[in-house]
Amino acid sequence: MKIAFVGKGGSGKTTLSSLFIRHLAATGAPVIAVDADINQHLGAALGLDEEQAAGLPAMGGRLPLIKDYLRGTNPRIASAEKMIKTTPPGDGSRLLRVCEDNPVYEACARAVELDGGAVRLMVTGQFTEADLGVACYHSKTGAVELLLNHLVDGRDEYAVVDMTAGSDSFASGMFTRFDMTFLVAEPTRKGSPSIASTRSTHTTSASTSRWSATRSRARTTSTSCASRSATTSW
Ligand SMILES: Nc1ncnc2c1ncn2[C@@H]1O[C@H](COP(=O)(O)OP(=O)(O)OP(=O)(O)O)[C@@H](O)[C@H]1O
Ligand SMILES: [Mg+2]
Repeated sequence: MKIAFVGKGGSGKTTLSSLFIRHLAATGAPVIAVDADINQHLGAALGLDEEQAAGLPAMGGRLPLIKDYLRGTNPRIASAEKMIKTTPPGDGSRLLRVCEDNPVYEACARAVELDGGAVRLMVTGQFTEADLGVACYHSKTGAVELLLNHLVDGRDEYAVVDMTAGSDSFASGMFTRFDMTFLVAEPTRKGSPSIASTRSTHTTSASTSRWSATRSRARTTSTSCASRSATTSW
C-alpha cells in the first residue's frame, strides 16, 4: 500500500509519518519510507543523527540512473532523457518490488534500524534556494513520482511518503499515486480552514485519484517477501 502524509506546514506530517513507519516496522511489515518534503526531517525523526541524515543519497541527484533502470528495454522510451516523471511503465520497463535488491535501492536507499526491524529510507535530497523554481523543485519530487509509478507493492508491504507542506502536494500528479492519503491538521481554528481548502483541491481530482488507486491495486501482485533477517541487510 502506498500512503502519503500531507497537510499545512508544521501540522505534524513528519511526526506522524515517522510514528506510522515505526509502527509498521514493529509489526514486521516491509516498508519503504520516502522523504519528499522541502524540509527534509524524516531521517532525523526516524532516529538518524545529523551526520547520518546529511549522508543520505539524494534521489533528485540520481535521476539519470533511476530513469535508465526503470525504462529497461521499453522501445517507446528511446533514452533516459526522453523519460519524464509521468512516463508510465510499458513493455520492457522494469518494475520495482518493495522486497528486492535493485540498482535504484542500491543508489538511493539506506537501511534504518528501528525497533522490530529495518526500513528502507529514500530522500529527495535537500532543497536549496535555487531549487525553489518550479522546474528544479519538481524534478526532485519527480524522482519519487517515477519510483511510485513503477513500484509494485504486495500485500502488507508499504511505501510511506512524507509530503511537502500545503497544497503544493497536489501541484503535480504525485498525489494520484497513493492508495491512502492522510491529511494532517492542527486542531485549531487556524488549522481547520487549511483542511477545507486542501480537501476541496483533492476532491476536484477525486475521480482521477480513484481511477489511479484502482489501477494501482489491479497491478498489485502478491510478491512474497524475504525474511526480516534478510531485509536487515539493506
Ligand atoms: N501531536 C502533537 N502534539 C504536539 N506537538 C506536536 C504534535 N505533532 C507534532 N508536534 C510538534 O510540532 C512540530 C512540527 O511537527 P512536524 O515537524 O512533524 O510537522 P510537519 O508538518 O512535518 O512540518 P513541516 O511542514 O515543517 O515539514 C514539531 O516540533 C513536533 O514535535
Ligand atoms: Mg515535515
